[in-house]
Amino acid sequence: MPNREAVVVILAAGKGTRLKSSMAKVLHFAGGRSLLESVVRACLPLGAKKIVAVVGHQAEAVTAVVTPFDAEAVLQLPQRGTGHAMLVAKRAIGNAKIAVVLPGDAPLVRIETLKALIATHRSGNAAATILSAVVADPSGYGRILRKSENSVAAIVEESQLSAEQRDINEINSSIYCFSTEKLWPALAQVKPENKHREIYLTDVITVLASKGETVLAQIAPDPREVLGCNTRADLAEVDRIFRERKREELMEAGVTIQLPETVLVGPDVVAGEDSVLEPCTQLLGKTRIGKRCVIRTGSVLSDAILGDGVTVEPHTVITESRLEDNVIIGPFARLRPGAHLKKGVKVGNFVEMKKSVIGEGSKIPHLSYVGDTKMGSHSNIGAGTITCNYDGVHKHPTTIGNRVFVGSDSVLVAPVKIGDGAYIAAGSAITENVPPNALGIARSRQSTKPGWAAKRRREQAEPAPKKKAGKKKPRAKKSHPRNKR
Ligand code: UD1
Ligand code: MG
Repeated sequence: MPNREAVVVILAAGKGTRLKSSMAKVLHFAGGRSLLESVVRACLPLGAKKIVAVVGHQAEAVTAVVTPFDAEAVLQLPQRGTGHAMLVAKRAIGNAKIAVVLPGDAPLVRIETLKALIATHRSGNAAATILSAVVADPSGYGRILRKSENSVAAIVEESQLSAEQRDINEINSSIYCFSTEKLWPALAQVKPENKHREIYLTDVITVLASKGETVLAQIAPDPREVLGCNTRADLAEVDRIFRERKREELMEAGVTIQLPETVLVGPDVVAGEDSVLEPCTQLLGKTRIGKRCVIRTGSVLSDAILGDGVTVEPHTVITESRLEDNVIIGPFARLRPGAHLKKGVKVGNFVEMKKSVIGEGSKIPHLSYVGDTKMGSHSNIGAGTITCNYDGVHKHPTTIGNRVFVGSDSVLVAPVKIGDGAYIAAGSAITENVPPNALGIARSRQSTKPGWAAKRRREQAEPAPKKKAGKKKPRAKKSHPRNKR
């Protein structure tokens, strides 16, 4: 059900001092996305009237994260606390009946949890409903003080806890539902009476409760959903959980993952049934893998598109490239942006390629550089072949036809064309086009000197001329003191 009478407000203006970073906290990444982007994405399925992001630190960069999602950014300058952030957002919230508030640094919340929170808020006719969590280690979080089993008296911030309140293990997630008609008068009464001289949104809860309004707290089903990223250690933990979720999603879709905790998969990656990810592989960016592919250990794929039945042998790096069905690549191969390997192509070890199209069934099995090249089908490129595509100023293309055979250790100096069915003799430096079915040979002719080696060995075996008598033996060198035992 869309929540058209609700507005989502994401608090994202803070600096994040505890991260010790020059970058605003919500721009930090976990699980392959910025914290803020994950929070926005988590809210989208609510179908709220609008999403408002309160921005402040590095406002321009933070705004750029939310605008692709049609969210509205409002500027909080200076940042005088989470309650102050809500005051700044008041105009943007307008006449919406419910404000769903989320911090920009707690990105693991699930849509089901948010929906359940709103449902509880509505059915309980509450002024405010807090998403809380029961955790083993509550330190750093505001604690929920319950009035009774069903209602809340206050949220007490860590710095203001009394000795006995320290043991309370129900914490505030900073995710709330507010009825706006109750929120605004209560917020107006909150004073910046704390160490930081900030207006805390948490104090609204105390005001509402003391007025006798209904304040509820709903415990999150999984406490990990409310983890906030205040420190680098928090970031690492949140990243770990996102990665785990993504791997579970792939396994659910029929992908085998060996030693899953060693495999890193980006949020936008898709992989087909019966594909296998070996330990220590990384699938990043918009990588898409077909069915029955094998990605072997140590390989890193970013923005790679793979068809079905592709084998990526160990330690291969593929970036912004496309591999059609049944390609075999690696081990130790590198595809830089713009490589396109058509069906059944085989690329072997220590081959580097960029911006090149390789036709069906062609093979580049060993030790080659192929750049700015268009190659036909069923050609074979010998070990050590290099396309010399760069003259120091400009890049030039190489065109290789179908069924071409390039002998080992050839250099093809671009721009150059090798016609269909041509042969290139091993060790050639090809600087001119080779027509179809011709042999291109460009190397100096071999000269062979019969008996040369045997003669040399004989000369070496002859005794050296005798030394003159009476000449003193050279004195033994003094050994370096460091070498003495
Ligand atoms: C806050 C809560 C705490 C809760 C915890 C959960 C308050 C006072 N405390 O503490 O009860 O347990 O979250 O993670 O709310 N922000 C602004 N403008 C500001 C200040 C903060 O937009 O002036 C934003 C920050 O960018 C951040 C969010 O609000 O995304 C929360 O601020 P943060 O400093 O992380 O609060 P915590 O100390 O974690
Ligand atoms: Mg926080």
